[in-house]
Amino acid sequence: MSGNAVEVRNVSKTFRVYHDRNQSIKATVLKGGRAKYEEFWALRDVSLDVQQGETFGLLGLNGSGKSTLLKCIAGILQPNTGTVASRGRMAAMLEVGSGFHPELTGRENIYLNAAILGMSDSEVDRKLDSMIEFAGVERFIDHPVKNYSSGMYVRLGFAVAIHTEPDLMLVDEVLAVGDKDFQAKCLQKFDDLKAEGKTVVVVSHSMGTMRTFCDRAAWLENGELQAVGTASDIVDRYTGEAERPVDLGDGIKRFGSGEVQFTDIELLREDGTPLDAVDPTRPVTVRLSFLAHEPIERPDFAISIRDAQQTAVFNITGHDREWLPERLPAGHGSVDIRIASLPVRAGGYHVVADVRAEGAEIPADKVWGAKRFGVNHGGHSTSGGTLYLPSGFESLRSGDDTATGTLRLMPS
Ligand SMILES: Nc1ncnc2c1ncn2[C@@H]1O[C@H](COP(=O)(O)OP(=O)(O)O)[C@@H](O)[C@H]1O
Ligand SMILES: [Mg+2]
Repeated sequence: MSGNAVEVRNVSKTFRVYHDRNQSIKATVLKGGRAKYEEFWALRDVSLDVQQGETFGLLGLNGSGKSTLLKCIAGILQPNTGTVASRGRMAAMLEVGSGFHPELTGRENIYLNAAILGMSDSEVDRKLDSMIEFAGVERFIDHPVKNYSSGMYVRLGFAVAIHTEPDLMLVDEVLAVGDKDFQAKCLQKFDDLKAEGKTVVVVSHSMGTMRTFCDRAAWLENGELQAVGTASDIVDRYTGEAERPVDLGDGIKRFGSGEVQFTDIELLREDGTPLDAVDPTRPVTVRLSFLAHEPIERPDFAISIRDAQQTAVFNITGHDREWLPERLPAGHGSVDIRIASLPVRAGGYHVVADVRAEGAEIPADKVWGAKRFGVNHGGHSTSGGTLYLPSGFESLRSGDDTATGTLRLMPS
């Protein structure tokens, strides 16, 4: 494998997806002891080379097979067909907290993990301080890691992995979990690895990171390789293609990587009852209901209220308001955006909803046109203008001999 750190040849991987999960044992037995399942192709005939010393990115929407490919390269999963070969000492950062024992302390986990990654105890002794410092967990190093935040898990895991001085480093999206400082530190480490001629294979949702940081990239879709090329080419093609929203009918469109998806968008009165016609002088709450298929870190929710011409009359984002919850666990949830009043001209409007991990270029979900509503002014006809301002005519004066006011609009 001259010049290559990784060679992936015609790799396919299927998973069995079982139906009738709640099927009784009796029913299964009656069917001849076989539960019904379908083969699901997570990877289909993927071939690619990663050259020694390059930083290689994997792109693709959620579920496209990126993690499965990394796990096949790491040897955690066996492909059904095809082969994977790699060269050198490998370290993998695949899932948050994988390989950690929750009851053990940070220090104990360092020794455990380092041993798994092939470091001797004396090597760990020498590098321990540096690892703890890199992870920034000095104060908690003798606490059980079950009390750690997901960010601390990732930092500690990364610190151990990087100190094994791997020839080949595999990194799944875990970096998204750390804070900005830590991400910068990791990117610096990758650069160091690169300078030493080491190889990095990385999955990231940040197109900026991909573009500036990776030499080459591959784009996966539904388990199939779409393209391999220079990182900037692949990012251009991927973002150009992927940003075509899916038409759901009835004027509703959706686009996103899919970790979180909106399930409903509602407008509510102060008493929580739903409404379809907004009184511009009254408060209104926009409730975004969602399903997180997997946890996301620092979700940034946003809405835009658009008029019939698609002009935004109001925008709000979690980022601008510094409202970024630490983490959204998997499951259903909702968030309310309270608007004191919506003083816009009468007409038809709709809500555009967006959610993404902080700083992500591609939203997890973005929905256009799902929630339409009218603003009406209780009988007043509107004479134009953008705003509806509570207003009226009053104090008519007429028939006087002298002018009032200071604007001189007539010759004296
Ligand atoms: N252990 C598994 N069992 C069944 N299906 C799986 C398993 N792991 C992954 N999949 C499925 O394979 C597809 C690819 O998953 P994955 O490699 O995690 O995608 P990505 O990392 O690009 O989001 C997804 O549809 C996922 O649901
Ligand atoms: Mg993944």
